[in-house]
Amino acid sequence: KETKLWGGRFEESVTDAVEKFTESISFDKELYKHDIMGSKAHASMLARQGLISASDRDSIIQGLDEIQRRIETGDFVWRTDREDVHMNIEAALTDLIGEPAKKLHTARSRNDQVLTDFRLWCRDAIDRIIVCIKNLQVALVSLALDNKELIVPGYTHLQRAQPVLLPHLLLAYVEQLERDAGRLIDCRVRLNFCPLGACALAGTGLPIDRFMTSDALGFTAPMRNSIDAVSDRDFVLEFLSANSITAVHLSRLGEEWVLWASEEFGFIIPSDSVSTGSSIMPQKKNPDPMELVRGKSARVIGDLVTLLTLCKGLPLAYNRDLQEDKEPVFDSVKTVMGMLEVSAEFAQNITFNHERIEKALPAGHLDATTLADYLVKKGMPFRTSHDIVGRSVALCVSKNCQLQDLSLDDMKSISPVFEEDVYEYLGVENSVKKFSSYGSTGCACVADQLEYWITKLEIS
Ligand code: ARG
Repeated sequence: KETKLWGGRFEESVTDAVEKFTESISFDKELYKHDIMGSKAHASMLARQGLISASDRDSIIQGLDEIQRRIETGDFVWRTDREDVHMNIEAALTDLIGEPAKKLHTARSRNDQVLTDFRLWCRDAIDRIIVCIKNLQVALVSLALDNKELIVPGYTHLQRAQPVLLPHLLLAYVEQLERDAGRLIDCRVRLNFCPLGACALAGTGLPIDRFMTSDALGFTAPMRNSIDAVSDRDFVLEFLSANSITAVHLSRLGEEWVLWASEEFGFIIPSDSVSTGSSIMPQKKNPDPMELVRGKSARVIGDLVTLLTLCKGLPLAYNRDLQEDKEPVFDSVKTVMGMLEVSAEFAQNITFNHERIEKALPAGHLDATTLADYLVKKGMPFRTSHDIVGRSVALCVSKNCQLQDLSLDDMKSISPVFEEDVYEYLGVENSVKKFSSYGSTGCACVADQLEYWITKLEIS
């Protein structure tokens, strides 16, 4: 057995069970690129500070480039007995270039190294997720543009409420996604500080330059407190919280589309390319992708809860428990990106069933609130108009008709304030036209919103 990099004081080697239980290489190899990036910056800094020679630096950097090439061509063997990504790469570097490699870990611990890697990895992941968010926003706006004039029932309590334009409803999701991206950007700003040089926890007496490595790696500044630098995981908690909120938004979208695809609603027809069938019921066509978007939100929330629970009892500074922080993050990122991608794909592959929606629209007295506003415009107090329209609806229910089917005499029997012009307020088309407040479902307001997103998302 090879001696461990930390093996000096040990007389026995670890048991196979302990080796298998404590390894992290099976998952933290995901960090290899950022580990190499960090090591190269560290070696350059050590050389500039006179802690290693320029030729050692050059052979370290060339060796690390060669190792990266081997990893990327599948020509690298990850070894469990070398524990984690940091020691795998360092040991492989020693195999490759010999003596100079042994100087790389000067003024560095795996504790600050792993956090440097992890922060760099999360920073990249945030950038990738933001691209996916934008793609979904574009897909939703395109869907809105394809159905610009479509009126659909708006719901509260999942009961018919008021008529809304479909683009208005789709843009509500676009707004939520924008805040999701905003939360990630905020998180990115806060996480972009460099732990490298904090070493195990206390820093070092060697003359390192933490500002140089921080700059080289694109961080805003080195972290001020070395103990905080190796203990902190709140950047991860914040990242996973932001992902959880995104996942919950997508889950709600999933729920809505699953409902809309049902026979009972029938508002959308997903194409075959985004549907799956049943192994027993030959007629079935299910919206599985959106069901799984709803379902996978559970694991994203679970990943956050794992991390919160992991951190809650830990004293300062580094504890090995913290090695458990990586898999939930990798899982959360992979899952949220998949959810975003498949939601965009679903959006690109549904058609709205205009005929079915038009047929469904008259039910539910969606224009009742507009009618109450009509009476307000005639000078009636709102509470009174609410009551009068309520009684008009009751009359409709007893006659099994819609508000617009009532005769003027019928209406006048409830209130003399009704006049012939009331019919300009009834029916969903008329009703939608009456909305005019900022952010409302009125045609002009929705057109403004669409215009805003077309410009913002650079849709041509
Ligand atoms: N694999 C470890 C982790 O992910 C690296 C840090 C190990 N540090 C230590 N002192 N054993 O947390």
